[in-house]
Amino acid sequence: MQKAFEEIRNGIVLAELGGYGDGPYCAKHGAGAALVMLGTYIVDAGDSVPYPAYFVFKPGRSSYAGYLEEHIVAARSSGAQVGVSVVSVHISDTVDFLKAAEEAGADYVSLCAHSTMEMFVRARVGAALCHRQNWDRLRKWAAAILEAVHIPVIFKIGASDTSDTIGAVEALDAVGIPIVHVNVGNTDAGGEGLAILEQISGKCSLLIAGGGVTDIEGARRVLSAGADCVAIGTAAMKQPDLCGRIQRLLRN
Ligand SMILES: Cc1cc2nc3c(=O)[nH]c(=O)nc-3n(C[C@H](O)[C@H](O)[C@H](O)COP(=O)(O)O)c2cc1C
Repeated sequence: MQKAFEEIRNGIVLAELGGYGDGPYCAKHGAGAALVMLGTYIVDAGDSVPYPAYFVFKPGRSSYAGYLEEHIVAARSSGAQVGVSVVSVHISDTVDFLKAAEEAGADYVSLCAHSTMEMFVRARVGAALCHRQNWDRLRKWAAAILEAVHIPVIFKIGASDTSDTIGAVEALDAVGIPIVHVNVGNTDAGGEGLAILEQISGKCSLLIAGGGVTDIEGARRVLSAGADCVAIGTAAMKQPDLCGRIQRLLRN
């Protein structure tokens, strides 16, 4: 696990971007980053998410095995570690998917406990997993994923309620989730996002954080607030070389 931490510590993470962040996108926009994330979803028949169909799978390996093989290989030409993220309504579907991602060569897997989409929240998953009334469920999902895969597991969470966010990070650390990725929404100097990070810092083994990072100053603010890695999503869409540039500055 320490080796996995060292590979990404003080590094840039190209954040999940459903609808954009497939393998070729990660290869180009994540070139020179420490970690690139492929974001996907599993939905039941009749449900839908606002992303192109090829990011969205029905439960079952025949639905996603080909995607995982093709896009993990493509993402790897970024030179970064490759992670795959997913969420589904049923835990068994998420576990099967993340096992398939590991078998297809992913270096990290991630549970998207970040999505506020109605179909997930209604089922008390996605962002609802971090609400204090669902922490037992959060622990159960974490334990099931940890038992199924052998590569580092990330839980990605939002930060809509500070005390629930801090409690969720502590609950995840207590069951052995090594890496938390928190999107604090805004990382402006002196803002609430950085204040939340300062409170989460040290409560998990490795903390990835982002939200509104567009430049080296923003990345340094996130690291100074206690994160180990900086996630960049939207800004990297417009500037394909941004992650690599900031990564070089951080590590030089
Ligand atoms: C178009 C778009 C698609 C996104 N898709 C996902 C996703 O599939 N999974 C996920 O966990 N987060 C997703 N996010 C959230 C981003 O990964 C990131 O955490 C968030 O945008 C904050 O970072 P930023 O301000 O640098 O964009 C998405 C964001 C955008 C703008």
